[in-house]
Amino acid sequence: MCTLVAISNQKGGVGKTTTTNALAAGLKHKGYRVLAIDLDSQGNLSFSFGAVTDGVACAYHVLKGEATAREAIQHTEIADIIAGNILLSSVELELTGTGREFVLKEALENILPDYDYILLDTPPALSILTVNAFTAAQRVIIPMLADIFSLQGITQLNDTVTRVRKYCNPSLIVSGILLTRYNERTLLSREIKETAAMISQQLQIPLFKTFIRNSVAISEAHSLESDLFEYAPKNNAVNDYMAFVDEFLEREQLL
Ligand SMILES: Nc1ncnc2c1ncn2[C@@H]1O[C@H](COP(=O)(O)OP(=O)(O)O)[C@@H](O)[C@H]1O
Ligand SMILES: [Mg+2]
Repeated sequence: MCTLVAISNQKGGVGKTTTTNALAAGLKHKGYRVLAIDLDSQGNLSFSFGAVTDGVACAYHVLKGEATAREAIQHTEIADIIAGNILLSSVELELTGTGREFVLKEALENILPDYDYILLDTPPALSILTVNAFTAAQRVIIPMLADIFSLQGITQLNDTVTRVRKYCNPSLIVSGILLTRYNERTLLSREIKETAAMISQQLQIPLFKTFIRNSVAISEAHSLESDLFEYAPKNNAVNDYMAFVDEFLEREQLL
């Protein structure tokens, strides 16, 4: 059975795209069949996969019914991907009418037998694209920066998850909050870890035991369109992502 996972947080720069990329590569290394879908008009995930974003069928065309999901799939070294580009920025206005939350879910139905995991990288907004991702997905992963402002948005994000669960997708489960770009050396980071644990308890959202340390190798691998685990297998942050993939899979076994 195929599991769809949305990676989401309405804040930008918190590691959504990095986490989607790492989870895709990590699951692929473990032998799973993985498709990533770039739902952000910035197309960062597509770039990090070395995918083509111009003149080919992309996520926008799939959502508009102008291409099938299968037609939009590109095979890359990291994993398969349906690319995203600037066209997605107008989807908010173009997807109108009854059932607009279900467009992605319906578009992916035909390809579910081809994959074990479909990962949805979402834009930095609680927009119709994010709602479509939550409606199609069974799981949500919330990457969060280890800074105090990040904590504020989690309640709002959790409200959106709750609403989608109520109206569109009763089987949506938050896998957990993942602390990213963690710097052990600052006092504040330790405080954040405690605050994150508290928030997780209050909202009853699990916190991943693994947290991702800050490392320049992460941005380097992305700009070189490389697989993280091959680019810097000994790097701390890369090891953290490896542990995160294991922890994610362990949790899946328990659900
Ligand atoms: N663990 C990390 N260490 C160092 N830089 C990171 C790490 N995770 C992400 N980054 C960098 O931070 C920036 C934002 O990350 P990104 O994954 O694009 O966030 P989002 O998708 O939430 O906007 C990118 O330049 C990325 O390379
Ligand atoms: Mg992103």
